[in-house]
Amino acid sequence: MASGQLSRNEALECSRSRHACHVMLYSDTASQLFGRTPIRHIVLMQMRFDGLLGFPGGLVDPSEETLEEGLTRELLEELGVAVPVSVEDYVESCFASSHPFTSSSSSSRLILHFYVKKIEEEHIREIEKAAASTAADHGLEVLGMVRVPLYSTKSHRGLPCFLSHSFIGNARSQLVDSLLRLHLVSPGELRRALRSSQRMNA
Ligand code: GTP
Ligand code: MN
Ligand code: MN
Ligand code: MN
Ligand code: MN
Repeated sequence: MASGQLSRNEALECSRSRHACHVMLYSDTASQLFGRTPIRHIVLMQMRFDGLLGFPGGLVDPSEETLEEGLTRELLEELGVAVPVSVEDYVESCFASSHPFTSSSSSSRLILHFYVKKIEEEHIREIEKAAASTAADHGLEVLGMVRVPLYSTKSHRGLPCFLSHSFIGNARSQLVDSLLRLHLVSPGELRRALRSSQRMNA
């Protein structure tokens, strides 16, 4: 296990910690960019109120709800539709690295739980519609859902450019690790995209 990582059970034993759950929702698709480039998959992230990219989800109180119930509640608030997430969709937990402006002694540690759930493309479209209209958090905590470009153009835009933006917490590595593990992007293409994204920020 990587440093800072812990199992779901170990995490739940940390009763004094705060907990947050986020999920990467994705689907297969036959859509083609410009009518000729298959995009293969749709991966959903969101633009948060603070201008950072992240996954839908939020703070959960394990004394009042299970992690998955809490995540499902957050998804209803942020997406406007119920997307039931279960223990089977659980990927990993880790301690959030402490924020430079908060003293670690006064605030209890935050444990981040990450989930991945594959759904139908039709469901993705419903979520996008609801998130932009009826979702309680629309325009407030969540400024909009975004799809992650999984392709790289000849001029190194697309995924490299997306990865050069700013992300909350470890959302960027949650994204990159998931793309690799689920074979949504080939290892070589991902490596090239990571390298170009670093150049863009240099
Ligand atoms: P409120 O309803 O305003 O409390 O927000 P929330 O419950 O929706 O919480 P939020 O989604 O902001 O998540 C809580 C904390 O988890 C954030 O302050 C970040 O530190 C962290 N966080 C948020 N999004 C992500 C994400 O996509 N990945 C990771 N690893 N951490 C995240
Ligand atoms: Mn929320
Ligand atoms: Mn949230
Ligand atoms: Mn919340
Ligand atoms: Mn809220």
